[in-house]
Amino acid sequence: MFVLGIETSCDETAAAVVKDGNELLSNEVASSMDLHSAFGGVIPEIAARCQLETINHVIDQSLLGAFPNISTPANRWAKIDAIAVTYGAGLGGSLLVGVMTAKSIAISQNKPLYAVNHVLGHLYANFITKTNLEGYHLPPKQPQFPMLGLIVSGGHSQLAYFENHFKYQLLGQTVDDAVGEAFDKVAKILGLPYPGGPSIARVAKNGKSLAHKLPISKLQGQYDFSFSGLKTAVLRLVQQLAGVPIDYPSNQLADKLNDQHKADIAASFQYTALKTIVDKTHRAYLDSNPKSVIIGGGVAANSQLRMQLADKFGGPVNSNKILHYTDPKLCTDNGAMVAALGNYMAVCGQPPADPFKLSIAPDLVM
Ligand code: KG4
Ligand code: ZN
Repeated sequence: MFVLGIETSCDETAAAVVKDGNELLSNEVASSMDLHSAFGGVIPEIAARCQLETINHVIDQSLLGAFPNISTPANRWAKIDAIAVTYGAGLGGSLLVGVMTAKSIAISQNKPLYAVNHVLGHLYANFITKTNLEGYHLPPKQPQFPMLGLIVSGGHSQLAYFENHFKYQLLGQTVDDAVGEAFDKVAKILGLPYPGGPSIARVAKNGKSLAHKLPISKLQGQYDFSFSGLKTAVLRLVQQLAGVPIDYPSNQLADKLNDQHKADIAASFQYTALKTIVDKTHRAYLDSNPKSVIIGGGVAANSQLRMQLADKFGGPVNSNKILHYTDPKLCTDNGAMVAALGNYMAVCGQPPADPFKLSIAPDLVM
């Protein structure tokens, strides 16, 4: 079964074709990141406008990439068995572009349409184990049930226990900021470019993770996360190092820090934020005894997270048989994860959406 996945929940315009839920045939991602960097964060109107301009081209390219030997667009469309599209969670305007496009295709090409939950989709990137595309390091085998899923992205931090496809229980989640959001905000305080996650990771390489002791929140829910206290602790630390009062404009703080300050703060923040995630995931693993632990979302691209997890679970980073994470290109938003999840929705008998009725769900939860 060939599924076309369409993803436009934030600033990416992405489309991919996945075969049988495990083989990546194409993966096209256009980002409007450059246009947002100047503002230090995604501007929803700019994102949606770019998506509107690029989505048809991105979809065409994904079909061409998947079926390079089929010469006409009509024959390429004929190969597609189903369309999957992210309908939530995400930015309203951005979701609308993807959903309206997918609905139009489903109607005009007469294909079943699957409405995908983006958060769940992040985990399904781990089910893709094969590709002929160059430059992908995919997991050697698919995760096994029961499995523990950790989603760490710009909008979500969640831990869920899966008995099987679509049979899951949410164990814990963030009570305030998502971890990716905390990376983005700390990067902003340090004057590092957006998106903050990769910037922090890069600068942290020159710093000491134990240079500053930062707090880990203690919460009632044993698998819940909190990152807003950590973020405020970083702000106070920076103010103290800069020798300014707490009402000093935060967008001018970075000018008062030298490179070593920034590196040490980035490393200490990264270490503490990831330690929280790793400790809770390991606790949940010990308590629920799953066969696989899978990690998805933009922050799953972080190599420190992978190292800390490998350390905690035992064994070198890529050889632990329980832990699954995929190529960084499939951790951040992409159409392949949407196509993979769409495949399992179809295979497991989930009902397709009515293309005349499907609407967006910006606040969708898992
Ligand atoms: O999954 P994603 O692409 O979008 C959402 O669904 O939110 O995640 C984006 C988030 C951003 O907050 C970004 O800073 C973070 O993932 N991120 C990282 C890294 N790459 C992206 N965080 C830490 N380390 C990275 N290497
Ligand atoms: Zn995402």
